Amino acid sequence: MNTPHNYEHERALWDQFAESATKDPSTGGPVFRWTQYKDHPADPGPGILGDPATVLEIGYGTGRALAYLAEQGVKCTGVDLSPVAVAHSTQKYGHLGIEFVCAEVLAHLAGRENSFDAVYSIFGAAWFTDPKRLFPLVASSLNPGGVFVFSQPPAIPGAYGPQGMYKGGFAGPAMFTYRYSYPLHQWHEFMENAGFIDVEVREIDAPTPGHIGTLLVRGTRSN
Ligand SMILES: C[S@@+](CC[C@H](N)C(=O)[O-])C[C@H]1O[C@@H](n2cnc3c(N)ncnc32)[C@H](O)[C@@H]1O
Repeated sequence: MNTPHNYEHERALWDQFAESATKDPSTGGPVFRWTQYKDHPADPGPGILGDPATVLEIGYGTGRALAYLAEQGVKCTGVDLSPVAVAHSTQKYGHLGIEFVCAEVLAHLAGRENSFDAVYSIFGAAWFTDPKRLFPLVASSLNPGGVFVFSQPPAIPGAYGPQGMYKGGFAGPAMFTYRYSYPLHQWHEFMENAGFIDVEVREIDAPTPGHIGTLLVRGTRSN
């Protein structure tokens, strides 16, 4: 399916999200977690990125994961669609030397000049971008042996492909985005088709049985 993306609708939605995230005290400071649960014992943490010297986070939102890695001495770049997110993250974490870029991820990766040891997304742009278009661009943005890792909620059974979502009720200006959801085997296929090897696709259970888990996907760019 060719999704008629209009990034202005999406930017408006994410600007609102970024505005409310700054007012949410639970957003806190630097932290790196793949799941939606604080202090989740099954969260693999940043270690699954390997030991990267350079990283790119796609759809970084608050910038808190980049801030965590920058404090460990990693050279960090983030790209996000929302000018509001970029303004807030620059103000909060700019002193850590992180490069915060305001751009749509597909356009940014298509025009980028440098490459990275790791590219990752935490409920970020990998969730909101067509994997058939995104994954090959990510693969070509990685150094040989580099890794791509992303997390997001698992698909609702039977609801696969782009999932349109309105924000703010069903009246007023249209703010919407598309989320991409697939069964595990399909993520595996997208990763391999984009040239990734050692692909792992799994669901991390929530800390409470029966609660929503987390999809985690990881692959390596071959040498
Ligand atoms: C749910 S938030 C991510 C939250 C982030 N993990 C954090 O801890 O703050 C999703 C982010 O992805 C960004 N995003 C969505 N679609 C994008 C795209 N096509 N290109 C770049 N960024 C995008 C949004 O602007 C938003 O900041």
